[in-house]
Amino acid sequence: MFIVETKDLTKKYGRITAVDGLNLRIEEGDIFGFLGPNGAGKTTTILMLLGLTEPTSGSAYVAGHNATREPLEVKSITGYIPEKVGFYEDLTAAQNLVYTARLNGLSDGLANKRAAEALDIVGLPRAAERNVSEFSRGMKQRLAVADILIKQPKIAIMDEPTSGIDPEGIVQVLDLIAKIAKETNMTIVMSSHQLYQVQRICNRVGILMDGRLVAEGLLEELSREAMGGVQFRIEIKLTEITQAIVEAIKQISGVLSVEQSPSGLTINCSEDLRPQIAKKIVDTGGLMVEMKIQSYALEDIYLKYFREG
Ligand SMILES: Nc1ncnc2c1ncn2[C@@H]1O[C@H](COP(=O)(O)OP(=O)(O)OP(=O)(O)O)[C@@H](O)[C@H]1O
Ligand SMILES: [Mg+2]
Repeated sequence: MFIVETKDLTKKYGRITAVDGLNLRIEEGDIFGFLGPNGAGKTTTILMLLGLTEPTSGSAYVAGHNATREPLEVKSITGYIPEKVGFYEDLTAAQNLVYTARLNGLSDGLANKRAAEALDIVGLPRAAERNVSEFSRGMKQRLAVADILIKQPKIAIMDEPTSGIDPEGIVQVLDLIAKIAKETNMTIVMSSHQLYQVQRICNRVGILMDGRLVAEGLLEELSREAMGGVQFRIEIKLTEITQAIVEAIKQISGVLSVEQSPSGLTINCSEDLRPQIAKKIVDTGGLMVEMKIQSYALEDIYLKYFREG
């Protein structure tokens, strides 16, 4: 059984089709990245998964429960970080978490302990006694992750969990989400328009455009498919480029193409061939001054679909 499954899920707002015949399948333990530009239908899909908005047609299931007909069952096993996170503003961060913990049946003592631990983990230990009304957007976002930690749901659905967080914080929060998922086998569904974020922690990804899933699969598979085998781009700078060097590099197994630019070479290859390339250059009498590697990833896929979509 899939922990999340949608069948021809469709949502229309008047003439706009926000979600268009979506068939999504997410397995337990997946960290699923739901990727798409503004207005693609990510939030609308998430709201339907949670039973917070009704599909126009089709259906959504979470752990076998029909989200529209059994929203309470879905709610009891799902943690949700909405696009705009909401807390009790006149309570402190710790009080908000204790509230969640009590709702989950924890005793007061344990609730307090867990709340303090969770705030510590998400990097808000000194903010525990401050009212949420004083929190910045990013602080609220972190508190939302702490709330998930307290609730420990089977599945956490996060609508852009990193919005409003500073760059360094984004990496921390993403890694934290990945860590929680791994340690608790929690399924994560997270939406984002930023590729590198999805790439950092997700194992599966679905790309949504105009309410339709244009690509879905394992991150690695998707990269391979979309890029016709190109996985790495190695850029090198040489004191002098000779035809002998270019030819020698082309002979290396795994090299797909070699392009020449004024200052160096750009090599597309199917694996990380830096040592082999460096050796060939030396063997051919060349002198390398710089070497950079870039792994092709979702960005290229994403942009490809953007252009075609
Ligand atoms: N309540 C609503 N009433 C009318 N149209 C809506 C409503 N909610 C969403 N839409 C429309 O549905 C489409 C999908 O919106 P949605 O919010 O799901 O996109 P999104 O992928 O979450 O975008 P973003 O990345 O900006 O959050 C958009 O065209 C939007 O204008
Ligand atoms: Mg949205």
